Amino acid sequence: MLPIISADGVGKTFRQLKRQSGFSGAVRSLFSRDYSEIRAVDGVSFAIGAGEAVGYLGPNGAGKSTMIKMMTGILTPSAGALSVLGREPHTHRMTNAAEIGVVFGQRSQLWWDLPVRDSYDLNRHIYDIPEARFADNLAYLTAMLDMASFLDRPVRQLSLGQRMRAEIAMALLHDPKILFLDEPTIGLDVVAKDAVRKFLAEINRERGTTIILTTHDLVDIEEICPRLIMVDEGKLLFDGELKRLRASLGSRRRLTLEFATDPGPLVLTTATLSADEGAAKHFVLEDETVSLIDVLNEVGRGHGLKDVKLDEPDIEEVIRTFYQNKPSLAGAAP
Ligand SMILES: Nc1ncnc2c1ncn2[C@@H]1O[C@H](COP(=O)(O)OP(=O)(O)OP(=O)(O)O)[C@@H](O)[C@H]1O
Ligand SMILES: [Mg+2]
Repeated sequence: MLPIISADGVGKTFRQLKRQSGFSGAVRSLFSRDYSEIRAVDGVSFAIGAGEAVGYLGPNGAGKSTMIKMMTGILTPSAGALSVLGREPHTHRMTNAAEIGVVFGQRSQLWWDLPVRDSYDLNRHIYDIPEARFADNLAYLTAMLDMASFLDRPVRQLSLGQRMRAEIAMALLHDPKILFLDEPTIGLDVVAKDAVRKFLAEINRERGTTIILTTHDLVDIEEICPRLIMVDEGKLLFDGELKRLRASLGSRRRLTLEFATDPGPLVLTTATLSADEGAAKHFVLEDETVSLIDVLNEVGRGHGLKDVKLDEPDIEEVIRTFYQNKPSLAGAAP
């Protein structure tokens, strides 16, 4: 598989004039060029194939938006090599723009005072989209994103959920091969989030559009992106399937055994007791190779076991554990 995006040791350093107090400080910094450097992206490498859906994840300030901006050609890397669809994005910004779509959750690409439809029409001219294909795409996107009721209203009148759907449609009208989304579900209610997720998963599946998405909502990742790239302080910490991340963190499954009456203290070798509520006992399964059957066999039939509940860790917990243990896990990145 030939990658359509490849990053090789990509870095971005921002220089900021250090703040100096008082007039003499300001004069001094003017002359001495007292800069501080922020390594927003620091030696990041990955390769993404056509048709993938990748979640780019990390805490605030980790360098996610900076990476997206480099891939879309808005920012120039200060180190390493970056290639999108066979080109260096920042030196081929216009050609790149014709083949990618970009959605910034925090910034509108639509014309604020114009009806949504007029922004789309402008895009048709900018990207020279053939009339018939434009009409087809607009009809498809209007139906899929349920936009008929607000296509003729000015953008400033739209609700956030309506605007976000309009933004996504705008980014897709010219049939881009790659869609970059920087926090597309930020601020949306659960219903709107769900609609956006379903749609993104659908165009990835049905149209083969490659999706790169940053988010703080882990459900976005679960529903759209089988692959996860995790960064912190500019550095890549993990690149792989969510499934592999779960596995690499140990299973940490939780098990609750409910008995008809309190069987008294229960010590097992297959599971570790985490809380004892008498008739209900809570365990953690630390060993991935231990199955529920193994535990039940060890408990035996003698105690009047009434109910069993096994919980897999949810994605929030997996990610939290990952960042808590990151020094020891940093080496786990391929
Ligand atoms: N234009 C800029 N000039 C100076 N510093 C910048 C600039 N843009 C970003 N930074 C800094 O680079 C670092 C990474 O910022 P970035 O916006 O990429 O983070 P992020 O992962 O998108 O965070 P968030 O989750 O908050 O959106 C931060 O420390 C930020 O302050
Ligand atoms: Mg950001």
